[in-house]
Amino acid sequence: MSVARYFDEMSYGPAPEADGEARAWLKRHESGFGHFIGGKFVQPAAGVHFDAMDPATGKKLGRVAQGDAADVDAAVVAARKAQGSWAKLPGHARARHLYALARAVQRHARLFAVIEALDNGKPVRETRDIDVPLVARHFYYHAGWAQLQATEFADQVPVGVVGQIIPWNFPLLMLAWKVAPALALGNTVVLKPAEFTPLTALLFAEIAAAAGLPAGVLNVVTGDGRTGAAIVGHAGVDKIAFTGSSEVGKLIRAETAGSGKSLTLELGGKSPFIVFDDADIDGAIEGVVDAIWFNQGQVCCAGSRLLVQEGIADKFHARLKRRMQNLRVGNPLDKAIDMGAIVAPVQLERIKALVATGVAEGAELFQPEIDLPTGGNFYPPTLLAHVQTAATVAREEIFGPVLVSMTFRTPDEAVMLANNTRYGLAASIWSETIGLALDIAPKLQAGVVWINATNLFDAAVGFGGYRESGYGREGGKEGAYEYLKPKAWAGRKARVAAELPEPQENVAGFDLPDLDRTAKLFVGGKQARPDGNYSRPVLSPKGVRLGEVGEGNRKDIRNAVAAARGAEGWSKATAHNRAQILYYMAENLSARADEFAARIAAMTGASKAKAVAEVDASIGRLFAYGAWADKFEGTVHAPPLRGVALAMNEPIGVVGIVCPDEAPMLSFISLLAPVIAMGNRAVIVPSERHPLVATDFYQVLETSDVPAGVVNIVTGAAKDLAKTLADHDDVDAIWAFGTKEIATLAEKLSVGNLKRVLTDHGLVTDWFDQAAAEGPILLRHAVQVKNIWIPYGE
Ligand code: NAI
Repeated sequence: MSVARYFDEMSYGPAPEADGEARAWLKRHESGFGHFIGGKFVQPAAGVHFDAMDPATGKKLGRVAQGDAADVDAAVVAARKAQGSWAKLPGHARARHLYALARAVQRHARLFAVIEALDNGKPVRETRDIDVPLVARHFYYHAGWAQLQATEFADQVPVGVVGQIIPWNFPLLMLAWKVAPALALGNTVVLKPAEFTPLTALLFAEIAAAAGLPAGVLNVVTGDGRTGAAIVGHAGVDKIAFTGSSEVGKLIRAETAGSGKSLTLELGGKSPFIVFDDADIDGAIEGVVDAIWFNQGQVCCAGSRLLVQEGIADKFHARLKRRMQNLRVGNPLDKAIDMGAIVAPVQLERIKALVATGVAEGAELFQPEIDLPTGGNFYPPTLLAHVQTAATVAREEIFGPVLVSMTFRTPDEAVMLANNTRYGLAASIWSETIGLALDIAPKLQAGVVWINATNLFDAAVGFGGYRESGYGREGGKEGAYEYLKPKAWAGRKARVAAELPEPQENVAGFDLPDLDRTAKLFVGGKQARPDGNYSRPVLSPKGVRLGEVGEGNRKDIRNAVAAARGAEGWSKATAHNRAQILYYMAENLSARADEFAARIAAMTGASKAKAVAEVDASIGRLFAYGAWADKFEGTVHAPPLRGVALAMNEPIGVVGIVCPDEAPMLSFISLLAPVIAMGNRAVIVPSERHPLVATDFYQVLETSDVPAGVVNIVTGAAKDLAKTLADHDDVDAIWAFGTKEIATLAEKLSVGNLKRVLTDHGLVTDWFDQAAAEGPILLRHAVQVKNIWIPYGE
């Protein structure tokens, strides 16, 4: 027989992975799994169980507990009890525990890989070669942060008890991404795996206990969305870390608003896979296979939108279809298959419905003629070509093995199409021209960019989204910070708003300004009359009228946001240039220091010395951020894969800032300076009670070469203005440092476009304290990290 005939006729026989050990473990728990609370399995309080199913066969794998509020409460109590002593352990001791977990995962690697494949339906080849090794890597990597915590995170403390809610697409890997950093940095955990895939989390808990993890440090409560909601709503939980659908992410944001819980959300995506006409086509075709048929396309960062340059589009599609013809869909335990089963019938139905919608909306459907196994939730690799940008399938996350494709002509058009989504999780660029690829990478609104690669992950390289793909990062140093909070903010008493004085009439020295002397707003580099033509008095502590400021309204905020949006050039300005402008602002403020000090003293009743100190501290702070502007940089990671990852600190965009009343000049500068130092544009609402320092500041801005639109100032009722800012879809982040009421409102209203919210929950009251109010503590919130993976070396 000729070699050619061999290749023609060759077909793969099944190569099944043995599942004896996995079946024996399931058998041991045949009577029904409990929750894992306080170091042991505990049956659910209400005694309710549900079935865990094998997606490839539709057969039952085991019975799993449905957690309710009582179960969640027991887990939170256990986690709280353990947290103090866990956090007090020396970093080295915690590092040893994490190291032991990594070793335990490696020792039981095959068992984990098989159970994961059974429970989720994904190919064992993937669980064995990708999921489980990455899980071990996460625990090793974070053992390192535990070891280094005392020196590397000296100004931080653990958040406390963390509620973690994870999805079904990478059940064990998502557990590792969440549990490893949380435990490493001194938190304890209540974790809820997804109802479709609870088994590896239970196995992990069992193995962790056997590896000596102290009771209560890791608790696993199983159940569906109701169990998740009970964790989110539990008052004893200090932070929620969630991965899943945008819909539930938004619910959780609204639910936790004002609770003081910190929150990270890793949500969906509709990531572009951009192929330029000079790409290595074979490489790019294999890239598509990894991008959208890895894990049956049930990947939040799946390259689900193929954008291919027009000149090569026909050739590319033809080769892609040929490649699809060779993909094998089959039993997840068969080591020779490419794709396994969809996780659950409901997901299969969702995929079918979306594909039908795509076809109805005019897409061209291609599915290869390949055999699908019967009896499980199988779906073939699918291409929907010639999709319109407005089509449902071009916008909605399908979360299945369905690629949509469209073409582009120029690089600019590619960027436009790539960014034409509310998501911003990942993107993949294929071109043999490094200059082109590196020109495109910074223009993409995505937290992860792969160049000539796709779906690469590592514990050292942060992962997380822009825009509605959520916020916070997992992995890397930035991911570690998500499980910490500033020491200087911890354990303080929240600010209480002071009573407003009664306005005094006809007091000696009373100087009623005429209308012309009413300070205007500052929008787009110009002083602007408030839209409503109303003004509000500014009173001294004794109620003496010191002046008037404009009463800003919704329209003024909208104008200010539009001006900030237009000042995009600032985000592209060099860090050196931004630093120069901050120094210049400091210099110009310094030239008028006496005037500002007098204003502060008159408005707040502060002593002259205190007022002078506040101006001095403000000048110092502007200098500090001038210094940071070109030093708070990214980093380069060298993951254990071919290549490097550039972790770039990028500006977030337009940031709304609401200032508190205390130290009105210093708090104003302390919040504004880090925001603009990092290249964001600001719409800032100064202290409601003491706004005159901000209106006086217009002249400093005007004389310091600050480009128009970079700083916009709207005076008025802080709560109303905060509301408009938080609600505005063109505002990318909001820093709410006013009252607790304002913080709550900002968090609640931020759900529309999932803007990033930073609030001190009223805790930063001493603005002179550098540890609490200056430097990376705030700068970290003024940037979002984009990780760009670049081929490098052999
Ligand atoms: P989901 O967001 O409902 O589930 C994720 C997790 O959240 C599960 O553990 C679930 O029990 C929990 N949960 C559900 N409702 C909750 C609530 N009200 N409070 C707290 N926790 C709650 O995702 P689902 O329904 O399983 O999948 C639907 C779609 O979501 C998918 O088709 C896909 O588009 C997207 N998705 C995205 C994921 C990602 O990694 N970004 C992962 C899973 C789903």
